[in-house]
Amino acid sequence: MDDADRLADPSMIEFIRRIRDPLARMQMEHQFAVDEVLTKVSILRREFLHLHRYNPIEHVGSRVKSTPSILDKVLRRGIELSPEAIRAGITDIAGVRITCSFIADTYRILDTLTAQADVRVVTIKDYIADPKPNGYKSLHAILEIPVFLTTGPVPTIVEVQIRTIAMDFWASLEHKIYYKYEGAVPAHLTADLSDAAEVAAQLDRRMEHLHQEVRTATPPSDDAVAIDVLDEKLLRRIRERIRHQQRGNE
Ligand code: GTP
Ligand code: MG
Repeated sequence: MDDADRLADPSMIEFIRRIRDPLARMQMEHQFAVDEVLTKVSILRREFLHLHRYNPIEHVGSRVKSTPSILDKVLRRGIELSPEAIRAGITDIAGVRITCSFIADTYRILDTLTAQADVRVVTIKDYIADPKPNGYKSLHAILEIPVFLTTGPVPTIVEVQIRTIAMDFWASLEHKIYYKYEGAVPAHLTADLSDAAEVAAQLDRRMEHLHQEVRTATPPSDDAVAIDVLDEKLLRRIRERIRHQQRGNE
């Protein structure tokens, strides 16, 4: 069908007119929901860094599903071609992927995120405890969070995937292979991928073990550094205030 044919099809024009604005609005709202989740994750990461002196999150990625991908999924899933049905039926219009350093961190991030008062958990799938047959591992959470618009709060669905660097490495390669072969991956590659998933899991266990060992070693005191940032005059005033308070307490 060339452009002239597409535009001459009245039912198509009617469909585009009906769906275009609601779809754009839906994508905008889901972008806001992504932004909310990214802010939450950024706060968790920075507080965690402050508390535990290490960064549990290596990378955060996000995307809002494009119009063609949304429509493709709607057709594959047999969902009705209406804005309401699309909003209710497609749970990954908003997607956030969090890559953590260690397995323990993936659960910690999921727990703290889902414990927040404005986050409603729709479903959680733990493919780390229970990997897919091909070896795929990740924590998947479908969350609902309010997006505050001029008309009031709009509950919006976000798919959050949390995994380790090793799991992410494996999943990206598997994804590329799957698409290259359009789903019909040759048996020897499937077997190799399955082996690679086991090696990735081993790496995760060894890295976590090393990390635990290093963490239990006593870190050097950083008192000197903390005092270094205060100049002489300020130090003198603090010292006087401490003495004053001590006298007050006697
Ligand atoms: P989709 O319709 O594909 O979104 O999957 P689903 O509704 O069955 O949900 P599921 O939680 O199983 O998967 C959601 C998303 O996780 C997918 O869109 C992918 O991003 C990712 N995913 C799931 N399984 C695999 C897998 O075997 N390999 C890779 N690379 N990614 C996967
Ligand atoms: Mg998906």
